[in-house]
Amino acid sequence: MSTQNIKALDALEEAHKIAFAPFIFQAVVSLRKLGIFDLIFEKRKKGGITIDAIADTLELSVYGVGVLLEIAESSQIVEQNELGQFKLTTIGYFLAYNETVNVNINFANEVCYKGMFHLDEAIKTGKPEGLKELGNWKTIYEGLSQLTPLQQKSWFEFDHHYSDDIFGEALKIVFQKERKSMLDIGANTGKFTIQCCKHNETVNMTMVDLPGQLNVALKNIENEGFQNRVKGHQIDWLSENPKLPTGADTFWLCQFLDCFSKEEILKVLKTCVEVMDENAELIIVETFTDRQRFDNAKFILEATSLYFTALANGNSKMYKANEFIEIADQAGLKLNDDIALGEYHTLFTFSKKG
Ligand SMILES: C[S@@+](CC[C@H](N)C(=O)[O-])C[C@H]1O[C@@H](n2cnc3c(N)ncnc32)[C@H](O)[C@@H]1O
Repeated sequence: MSTQNIKALDALEEAHKIAFAPFIFQAVVSLRKLGIFDLIFEKRKKGGITIDAIADTLELSVYGVGVLLEIAESSQIVEQNELGQFKLTTIGYFLAYNETVNVNINFANEVCYKGMFHLDEAIKTGKPEGLKELGNWKTIYEGLSQLTPLQQKSWFEFDHHYSDDIFGEALKIVFQKERKSMLDIGANTGKFTIQCCKHNETVNMTMVDLPGQLNVALKNIENEGFQNRVKGHQIDWLSENPKLPTGADTFWLCQFLDCFSKEEILKVLKTCVEVMDENAELIIVETFTDRQRFDNAKFILEATSLYFTALANGNSKMYKANEFIEIADQAGLKLNDDIALGEYHTLFTFSKKG
């Protein structure tokens, strides 16, 4: 939508919506948590359900259900007929049942909501000032294994939602070549490493991550019975002189480099280059803001950048594809393949410059 042509009245309406966006968001969270969306959806074939009947069924006050449904109706989330029976609109249906929207709402509410209040401080200091709402760590990654179960569930579902779907497609591309020894850098819960072990019977994997995260990942590997082929390598990329093991033929960095500033990305890639030989391949998988077909995907990535600013580390973001190609070039890497993966991701393969 061109903002040039928007009428003043419509512009004011949009501005009011933004002014009260946190209220509408929390109303939606309440409608979900209290079971009101589900009940309205269940009654759709009976023509909908009244406020009194909702209050009665869910043992809530008519007042409480009323205030939530008033703002929901003005926000085009529900609509009512002349008998006062409510139904979900298409927007309401997506808010209640679309998987991506669900993952985003839970992440926004459980992980980010309170911390976002400190966004302006974070912009000034370059530190994740909102993180104190979750715990006392320098970055969220240090605290991941210590978040509450609900915060962890929301964080991991958000993270996995945007990478799980592409692993299958990525494995086919990765294992077109023989891979003997692969570093899974930013291995997180070990999901990709486990899938590699299932997909290929001989590859040896080394998961590289912070100690807390690595312990969780190594337990998951044990549960799958792959401990003979999988090792862990502890690292803190923000420490002075991080070191990787030698001998790997493949370096896998999926949804990882966006956790760092440009200077830090250069340091990570240079550290990889130090231990790469001329046949080794470094693979980066990312969701780049300028490689999205749909505006809503770009919007989600831009919102995710604010999570990095206020909560994760204070200095990283979702990047443009060219920004990565330039940094990789500075680090001594040559781009070989540039492949679209699934709906949102791009897979780059690099080798060491000769
Ligand atoms: C967004 S997750 C990536 C998940 C996984 N690769 C995937 O594709 O789903 C980022 C990972 O980087 C790790 N990480 C972040 N900062 C780090 C640091 N300073 N040193 C080492 N690992 C770090 C986190 O612990 C986390 O497991």
